[in-house]
Amino acid sequence: MFIKNRRHTIINKLETNKDLPDNELAALLETDIHNSSLFESADRVRKSIYGTDVYIRGLIEFTNYCKNNCYYCGIRCENRAISRYRLSQQEIMDCCEIGYELGFRTFVLQGGEDDYYKDEILCAIISEIKANYPDCAVTLSIGEKPYKSYKAYFEAGADRYLLRHETADDEHYKKLHPESMSLQNRKECLWNLKEIGYQVGSGFMAGSPFQKTEHLIKDIRFLQELKPEMIGIGPFISHSDTPFKDQKSGSLELTLRLLAILRLMFPNVLLPATTALGTISPDGRELGLKAGANVVMPNLSPVSVRKQYALYDNKICTGEEAAECKGCLERRVNAAGYQIVVSRGDVKMVPGTNLAPIKDLCYPQYIRHNPGAETW
Ligand code: SAM
Ligand code: FES
Repeated sequence: MFIKNRRHTIINKLETNKDLPDNELAALLETDIHNSSLFESADRVRKSIYGTDVYIRGLIEFTNYCKNNCYYCGIRCENRAISRYRLSQQEIMDCCEIGYELGFRTFVLQGGEDDYYKDEILCAIISEIKANYPDCAVTLSIGEKPYKSYKAYFEAGADRYLLRHETADDEHYKKLHPESMSLQNRKECLWNLKEIGYQVGSGFMAGSPFQKTEHLIKDIRFLQELKPEMIGIGPFISHSDTPFKDQKSGSLELTLRLLAILRLMFPNVLLPATTALGTISPDGRELGLKAGANVVMPNLSPVSVRKQYALYDNKICTGEEAAECKGCLERRVNAAGYQIVVSRGDVKMVPGTNLAPIKDLCYPQYIRHNPGAETW
């Protein structure tokens, strides 16, 4: 009874203050008692800002080549068991055409770190998408790049960038990545993206190998510092052809708790119910929406390559055409009590929240999309 009451008090405090001291955050993260009041609180906050709207992003996984070797990732360069593919500019445009017809107004270009796509090629792809679909946002998720490359993509029209920090603890980072990669560089990339004017997304995997509560608290503290517009979290799921093949996958419960806590700490953030969440549990994405998530990312990649973009085992939605995928998600979203909207789905910035004002974060971009709003 005492523990239950204490948890209620902590949840109320988190909803009101949008923050908690480390010990209370740890208590909330570690409890495995029924979470319904935490989820109700997160849902109330998400509804106060986004109503029951769910934003969709058309995910185009355009290359599974990667020069990196992250221990957890199925498309790491040392995995010789997968066949590699790259989509041409025309194939990417075909995905956008199908996506636009289906109501997508954001296209996410995601891939491994593949130097085949030089800056000029990527800029040409971004410019063509923006020229053909000026009412759409382009999101990139292509890893760590030099400042000048990020700047070039932004000037070509890219609006948003997703780069999970993966873990904010140095020692933990080293356990997940080879020596050639560093948390410092990852963080520097994120700060560069913000400075350039992107809407930035960061995040981490729930239940990644060797993860402790103290790491999760550091992740949350880093996000509070970064103030991203989007936070991507999903469970770690092991992949049979990686060094982490025998590691336990992250749990549904921890991922949902994290989603709810993040919604309460970052009321305005764009928070996806990820494919990984739908992979560990058949109704994972619906539960994610009920715990505060407000974005889903159906796959727009050609069915012929879907299975090759296997970051983890048993990934769902690798067999269906884009229309089927979107139709299935639409039914799931509706059944959970929400609805998909046709919209770019930009972040709603409200002064006084945990997010810095848009002027500080992405003013150039805000002005680009809202001409005449200079006095905002
Ligand atoms: N190369 C880009 C990057 O590094 O940001 C984008 C592609 S990367 C595959 C996208 C995300 O997939 C990573 O940030 C990571 O968190 C997630 N991911 C990779 N392997 C995973 C796994 N086994 N389980 C769950 N998520 C995974
Ligand atoms: Fe590069 Fe996963 S190791 S995308």
